Amino acid sequence: MAIHIPRGTQDIMPPEVETWHLIEEAARKLCSLYQYQEIRTPIFEHTELFSRGVGDSTDIVEKEMYNFTDRGGRNMTLRPEGTAAVVRSFVENKMYGNPDQPVKLYYMGPMFRYERPQAGRYRQFVQFGIEALGSNDPAIDAEVISLAMALYRELGLKKLKLVLNSLGDTESRKAHREALVSHFQPRIGEFCEDCQKRLEKNPLRILDCKKDSGHELMETAPSIVDYLNDSSRAYFEKVQEYLKKLEIPFEVDPNLVRGLDYYNHTAFEIMSEAEGFGAITTLCGGGRYNGLAEELGGPETPGIGFALSIERFIAALKAEKVELPVERKIDCYLVSLGDRAKDYTVGLLQELRNEGISAERDYLGRKLKAQFKAADRLGARFVAVLGDDELEKGVINLKNMETGEQTEVELASLAKQFR
Ligand code: HAM
Repeated sequence: MAIHIPRGTQDIMPPEVETWHLIEEAARKLCSLYQYQEIRTPIFEHTELFSRGVGDSTDIVEKEMYNFTDRGGRNMTLRPEGTAAVVRSFVENKMYGNPDQPVKLYYMGPMFRYERPQAGRYRQFVQFGIEALGSNDPAIDAEVISLAMALYRELGLKKLKLVLNSLGDTESRKAHREALVSHFQPRIGEFCEDCQKRLEKNPLRILDCKKDSGHELMETAPSIVDYLNDSSRAYFEKVQEYLKKLEIPFEVDPNLVRGLDYYNHTAFEIMSEAEGFGAITTLCGGGRYNGLAEELGGPETPGIGFALSIERFIAALKAEKVELPVERKIDCYLVSLGDRAKDYTVGLLQELRNEGISAERDYLGRKLKAQFKAADRLGARFVAVLGDDELEKGVINLKNMETGEQTEVELASLAKQFR
């Protein structure tokens, strides 16, 4: 019986993988412009990193992690996100001592969440994310958001909506939390089992519940904006002022609650507003996490970042019907006729490739016409035809496939001819 791919995963096949390369290259280029450096952390970490970092009462930690015990009996987890590991590494490698602050990092790689698969939601997906650690300047919040927007725009997305909120500092969050508990407690029996648990552990998460989203108490729930203290409010205003300066349109949504526990102050999501994008419209999510480094045993360090998945990026490109230039082309296809010529192309092909010329030949013993067809399918710019006669004379016939022009070239100078 054939073995199938696991549910919620996908094979990225050629030529679609070319689109991935374009996005990855654009992301790396922007990171270099904005001065973010790549960091590569392991695919698996100690489970405790996520239960402490992301938060015990989040859906991710409670229901979605790929946990396993290794042969040494340790509890390990396939990473569901990148921030906790980056901050772990920041602390472990004492990057808070680096002369260059803030420390600006980016990562790209697979993440794993045991979610119910649907359009735009996978169990293995690739995140591109950035994290800026060590600065409490609202300008860096604006920079982080602007990098995400720049990447989407660079690749041609237009129907984007940036949604912004502030979750405030510890003091503001505490006041809001108390207000939420008093709001929901008297009627918590009408809510789902998860929400009942959330009331004590993390009442903010109730606002994000899909099952109870229609309950009347949701509409009237106390809003964080009314509980921000002066410094949190001032910080949030400054972030908005900078975004306006950068001409990045946004909407403030006091109900924006992110699904991870480490956030405070700025929280944001970028959505696709393209028609027919599907139910899950969030392309990118991020925010500030000033307590996370301390939570993971490091010194008090402010931080902010975002992550986006390439899968949803590509879905948005498709929804907006953006065609990326991913034509496949090669410089030269070697057509050969006769046994000696065929043998000769083995070395000739290598010579071309050594000179940086992309080249291909036939490996199936095809006839002349079929070899030309193969060259056509590969989008060959030139076809070089070698028969036993030409070989005898030390020449090769070079055809420009765009103009149809044919020239006889000395065999020994074919590679040079291309330059
Ligand atoms: P998140 O909102 O959990 O945040 O995920 C960020 C992005 O990852 C989402 O907006 C979405 O594009 C993508 N994503 C999440 N789950 C899936 C899935 N199952 N299939 C496809 N794409 C998915 C974080 O992960 C935070 N670490 C972001 C962050 C970085 N905050 C600060 N720094």
